Amino acid sequence: MKIVLAYSGGLDTSVLLKQFIDQGHQVIAMTLNLGESDMLAGEGSQDALEAVRQKALKLGAVEAVLIDARERFIEEYAYKALAANALYQGVYPLSAALSRPLIADLLVETAQQYGADAVAHGCTGKGNDQVRIEIGVRAKAPHLTTLAPLRDKPLSRPDAIAYAQAHGVPIAHTAAKPYSVDANLWGRSIEAGVLENPWNAPPEDAYAWSVAPEDAPASGDEVTIAFRHGIPRVEGTSGAEMVFELNKVAGRNGVGRIDMIEDRVVGLKSREVYECPASVTLIEAHKALERLTLTRDELRLKAGLDQKYAELIYDALWSSPLRLALDAFNAKLAERLTGEVRVKLIRGRAVVTGSSSPFALYDESLATYGAGDTFRHDAAGGFIQIHGLPVAAGAAKAAEAAQRATPEFA
Ligand code: ARG
Repeated sequence: MKIVLAYSGGLDTSVLLKQFIDQGHQVIAMTLNLGESDMLAGEGSQDALEAVRQKALKLGAVEAVLIDARERFIEEYAYKALAANALYQGVYPLSAALSRPLIADLLVETAQQYGADAVAHGCTGKGNDQVRIEIGVRAKAPHLTTLAPLRDKPLSRPDAIAYAQAHGVPIAHTAAKPYSVDANLWGRSIEAGVLENPWNAPPEDAYAWSVAPEDAPASGDEVTIAFRHGIPRVEGTSGAEMVFELNKVAGRNGVGRIDMIEDRVVGLKSREVYECPASVTLIEAHKALERLTLTRDELRLKAGLDQKYAELIYDALWSSPLRLALDAFNAKLAERLTGEVRVKLIRGRAVVTGSSSPFALYDESLATYGAGDTFRHDAAGGFIQIHGLPVAAGAAKAAEAAQRATPEFA
């Protein structure tokens, strides 16, 4: 068989690659640049990923492709989620969850390009990622086979190391990795190790993109984020570049650290730690612009739909028709989401300190308590009479009933 394998270069997917080859399959290794190496090594660094590609070829892959998917990830996945202020269970910006449908799309595209019969991933059976990748593949290529050997026959770490040693798979770090990490420009997730006991506070070494809020400079940083139709834009900068820069600024102010007990799709609760400096900041700013420009009814309806949107992403239903319908709803409202939001990043908090928009529904002459007030104060009395009618009618009926219940009316 010809198989496209989602290849990270780590121990598990390297063993998987070697196993496929030993079984006589042809393997095309697919590695993605989603911005993680930029965050660790500085922007523009594809070197570490090129080394991953070379490793796949050395292990015997017939082809190894390295795809720079940073812009596509930000523009087509992360910004759709931003339009919905998507936070799973109110806090997690869904960084890992958003990358899985993109990985699925690229597996399918690569399989089509090379005429492969199957795609494969190294996810385990306990996580959400297997569900997201496989449903994503099914949405785009229903007849393509997906192989998940590590899910179907789990490989313990000692077994993986033994296999690697016996089959010439280089092992980069023999020391036990303290955490399981997944990262892209929208955020970094850290799980396992000492974090599995929910009483243990996350050690500082769990974090790589942010400082502890108490160690951040007291002065903080101020950023102004310009939105055009709901999309944050900095002149002369691509979407991925802007998110990268914002990760740096917000991260050095300790913004975006999240520590939560999370409900997985497969039914279990897990302890997850995240650092998502840019996405947390952008969602705060985006919400502020919505509050300035959307009507009260739009905001009320959208809050519920936003939560549904986050659940669809988390629950592996990115490719569902409902998600596309919600995109259309968000796009309609985004016609008015143009303007600027100023955010103070300080000691772990992203605080909006100002907003402006040509579409602002906020009207200072209506809102003011100072001179130039144009609000019709005299109309308020009549409004209260009518708005309160159901309450008044209900109260009157309750009073009548109470009278009837007293002995002389019985
Ligand atoms: N719990 C998060 C999610 O489901 C993060 C998953 C991270 N994946 C990983 N393979 N470490 O979205």
